[in-house]
Amino acid sequence: MSNSVLRGWSEWPVCHFDELPDPGAKGFLVGDGEWPFRGFVVRKSQEVFAYANVCPHQRHPLDLLPDVFLTDDRESIRCSSHGALFDLTSGLCVFGPCVGHKLMQLESRIDSDRSVLVVAPASLRDAGPIIDGEFDTA
Ligand code: FES
Repeated sequence: MSNSVLRGWSEWPVCHFDELPDPGAKGFLVGDGEWPFRGFVVRKSQEVFAYANVCPHQRHPLDLLPDVFLTDDRESIRCSSHGALFDLTSGLCVFGPCVGHKLMQLESRIDSDRSVLVVAPASLRDAGPIIDGEFDTA
């Protein structure tokens, strides 16, 4: 099922592709009010991948420090809370307390002016698959 068909979800510009290190990551926040939606994008070579900023272990945000989503060697995504490591391109946990589980991947693309666009809900209240516990697609 495409995320874009979910009620309340739409495509958001979250950053410019050229501001992302290679490999690198950057957090984003869409919507406003009390329940904005938080995610992050990862660049690897000429591709971009987007995820909800929710760890499948205990649902903490992955970055304790803003935009620190990757290991020092930038080979993996790391959750700062308990050290889980995730594959950059699939979001699959390969080490730590949630091995075999996945981050929630979001549809993303790079448009003609190199803006990174991500399909996400305008509010965490519209993020049904996350708050209902259905985001783990392992
Ligand atoms: S909350 Fe991410 S590893 Fe525990």
